[in-house]
Amino acid sequence: MRRLRPVLLGALCALVGIAFADTGRAQSPTGAPGQTVVQRGEYLARAADCAACHTPPNGQEFTGGYKFSLPFGTIYGPNITPDKATGIGDYTDDEFVSALQRGVGRGGKHLYPAMPYTNYTLMSREDVLAIKAYLFSLTPVHAESPPNDLSFPYNQRWGMVFWNLLNNPDHRFRPDTAKSPAWNRGAYLAEALGHCQACHTPRNFLYGLESGRAYGGAVVQDWLAYNITSDKESGVGAWSDDDLAAYLSTGHAPNHGPASGPMAEAVDHSLRHLAQSDIRALVTYLRDVKPVRTETPPPRPVRADALGERVFREACVSCHLLDGGGRQTPYAALQGAHSVRDPNGTNLLQILVRGGAIATGGPTAFMPAFGGAYGSEELAAVANWTIGHFGQRGGAVTRKDVEAVPPPGPASAARATPGG
Ligand code: HEC
Ligand code: HEC
Ligand code: HEC
Repeated sequence: MRRLRPVLLGALCALVGIAFADTGRAQSPTGAPGQTVVQRGEYLARAADCAACHTPPNGQEFTGGYKFSLPFGTIYGPNITPDKATGIGDYTDDEFVSALQRGVGRGGKHLYPAMPYTNYTLMSREDVLAIKAYLFSLTPVHAESPPNDLSFPYNQRWGMVFWNLLNNPDHRFRPDTAKSPAWNRGAYLAEALGHCQACHTPRNFLYGLESGRAYGGAVVQDWLAYNITSDKESGVGAWSDDDLAAYLSTGHAPNHGPASGPMAEAVDHSLRHLAQSDIRALVTYLRDVKPVRTETPPPRPVRADALGERVFREACVSCHLLDGGGRQTPYAALQGAHSVRDPNGTNLLQILVRGGAIATGGPTAFMPAFGGAYGSEELAAVANWTIGHFGQRGGAVTRKDVEAVPPPGPASAARATPGG
């Protein structure tokens, strides 16, 4: 019974959620710009970032093999080119709609929610089929993904029936007529297509989204996807509209630093391809997301750190300058970056050890991986010095934290791909 209680509670919440959502008015959401169905589908596929999880590191778009390390095993984004043997060439319209809206693929296969169908479920059938038309206009590529490796009971796909009852509302986007068209467009882009919540909303122990803390920040693939609610301190409530728009469409903003890791990928594959009106619509919607206050560790005093400063002057200053200005490119500007204000240095450590890449469209200056170049004591010291110097707070990074970051590998190679 103790085990069952949270499940029942979840079911109740899900029912309440459905009842609540049903008060909306049924209307078809605004369409994306473009003339032919295939062009419209391409734009929508970009906005939904299908490439992110269906493209292998350094490989051809949509051919599958992108690896997900989940708490309970490994799964791969499959080939979604129209190849009949290894891709989705045999999918009918109804099967494709079912995969995106209900997470049930061809032959009744229950998909794992690493495929964000709990967001895509909000998409209209028309938009889903435009995406299908685009994917089916591509050249079929024969490419088999490695088999999934999940532990029991997570390898039991039928279990998803219950998960879906709790977590997939299975309803389409309903515009809120009390809000502006821009707000509604932004809501559709953020909730249905951009699946921002898949990274930025914390999950419960059943991998369901914690709707009460929507956009309140979460850890995704070792990165911290920050709180992006309208809260002025913990979220992005204090950013200007222009800064938010610049960050989303170019991957960096003056006084907020660059987008790195999974966010750089989202910008690269998806957001930088959107029309400015759609970027502005996203900003309008984000402005209105219920503020969530996140706990931050109490500030620690900044301490002098000779080792950290020496390493920074030796290894970092050539690109980042002592004032954090970014020498070759504004992408390297550290002033105001969230990563240097986080005393735990979560994202800073990822980029420091594994290296980074800027969203394409900007100049090609890469942040090299320092994982092999320095020992963990020096890297912890330079991390803390960077946080103290640019973030004006004491860093709490230890050698152990540095050693916990996986060495540079295929994932960072994937980030270095000029995709799109
Ligand atoms: C965040 C990662 C992610 C994104 C984004 C994503 N997918 Fe997926 N998708 C997956 C994973 C992982 C699977 C495999 C799930 C499984 O094995 O249960 C999958 C499975 C599928 C399948 C089922 C394929 C089969 O073998 O039957 C289809 C179809 C599909 N995705 C289409 C899309 C489309 C279209 C988009 C964009 C609108 C998209 N996906 C975006 C991760 C993603
Ligand atoms: C694949 C995961 C992922 C997706 C999808 C994603 N984000 Fe992010 N986002 C992140 C991560 C990780 C960071 C932190 C990046 C860094 O430290 O440079 C981030 C950072 C941000 C920031 C900067 C916040 C700050 O305090 O610096 C904004 C704004 C943002 N995301 C908005 C969005 C919006 C809007 C969407 C949907 C259109 C979205 N993100 C989709 C992972 C994601
Ligand atoms: C060759 C130039 C270069 C060198 C050397 C370099 N960086 Fe970077 N760094 C960059 C670029 C370009 C970016 C933006 C790209 C990205 O975020 O993927 C960046 C991003 C960063 C970020 C911001 C991450 C975020 O999302 O907010 C931090 C922090 C950082 N570097 C710290 C360091 C430290 C510490 C060193 C020295 C150990 C260093 N860098 C050395 C070029 C460099």
